[in-house]
Amino acid sequence: MLQYISMLDVHAIKKDFPILSREINHKKLVYLDNAATSQKPQSVIDAISNYYSYCNANVHRGVHTLSDESTNLFETSKTTIANFLGAKNDEVIFVRNTTEAINGLAYGWGEQNIVADDLILVSILDHHSNIVVWQELCKRKKANLVFIKITKDGKFDFNDFDEKLQKFGHKLKLVAVPHVSNALGSKLDLKKLVQKVQKFTPKSRILVDGAQSAPHLPINFEKMNVDFFVFSGHKMLGPMGIGGLLVRENILKTGEMRPWLFGGGMIAQVHESHTNFQDDLSERFTPGTPDVASIVGLAEASRYLSQLGMENVHKHDSQLVAYALKKLAKIKNIEIVGPKDETRVGSVAFLYQGVHAHDVAQVLDSQGIAVRSGHHCTMPLHTSQNWVATTRASFQIYNSKDDVDLLARGLEKVAEILL
Ligand code: ALA
Repeated sequence: MLQYISMLDVHAIKKDFPILSREINHKKLVYLDNAATSQKPQSVIDAISNYYSYCNANVHRGVHTLSDESTNLFETSKTTIANFLGAKNDEVIFVRNTTEAINGLAYGWGEQNIVADDLILVSILDHHSNIVVWQELCKRKKANLVFIKITKDGKFDFNDFDEKLQKFGHKLKLVAVPHVSNALGSKLDLKKLVQKVQKFTPKSRILVDGAQSAPHLPINFEKMNVDFFVFSGHKMLGPMGIGGLLVRENILKTGEMRPWLFGGGMIAQVHESHTNFQDDLSERFTPGTPDVASIVGLAEASRYLSQLGMENVHKHDSQLVAYALKKLAKIKNIEIVGPKDETRVGSVAFLYQGVHAHDVAQVLDSQGIAVRSGHHCTMPLHTSQNWVATTRASFQIYNSKDDVDLLARGLEKVAEILL
């Protein structure tokens, strides 16, 4: 493993990611679609491969040596991931990804806590996953879903939030917001949001969608003072198919949230008439054989990021975002959307006058540059701003200023070819 003391050595980091040595369309790959999914370092790939090669056995079920080894690896991996996110082991429920975590929350918590006429607040910045799930719950419960607007520079609008808290506060049960917007990179001032909710409606629960923050910012669930935090492993150097739902221990202990999936592994005793569930809180929520290999891979990704230091990871990202904002602002025909200051995390998105975002992305692809184009699973946001589609370049620890320079050159070619 690499040792970094303060700043990131991007050149060395790149070598840890085998896919980055690929050529795409006869050009060196410049991967700038990290908000969709990040690439994986060799150590994560090896951890998964070693698990299946030498350690594979079911966990918590056998007395034989392999099962014991596998169970130990599963438990230590869980501790590594919990520590990385500043959560207690009991508070970590493994799921496939952020979307599944939010769905689990709607069934495990929403079904028994939301009633007719209740209010759920989301932000217009939210990803479809943090909208559609609550739309469906509101439909089932005859509850209401209300959107918080954004400011002109694409940030969560606290004035609008205040107004809605004053107006509907007594009915508010849940505030479901993105920590960092996947479409605009806007970082939410969580401290401010938590203070306001605690002042006006202290019983309301707060869900933070951390899909785009966990890869770039130090996360401490305990200090965050929110009730639920959801994330996907695959955006933070881990494998696809593993993510987490962090739930405050007391919400699990008091039964405010119940399991939404049932079966083996979660039980203490099963009788013909009823079942007693496990004391271990997070085990109670994960019936069936867990995806041990992916959890081992995610633990390795957490170790890799911890060794770099999440403060350094954040600093690197801030520098890169600032550089990209400056560089892209100089390109004719480009209008950057979203915040243009230090509150922007992970990505830069823009409109290209006279060219559809998919065409921009295709011209970039012909130069080996991978970006995402479209509505980025944020159609309500795009509709509210009258954007048909945007192009987004999103970063990770292995991206450098050189990558941004190549992006800028590629964007200049878009005009040469298409305008
Ligand atoms: N939500 C992911 C993105 O923003 C897929 O690209």
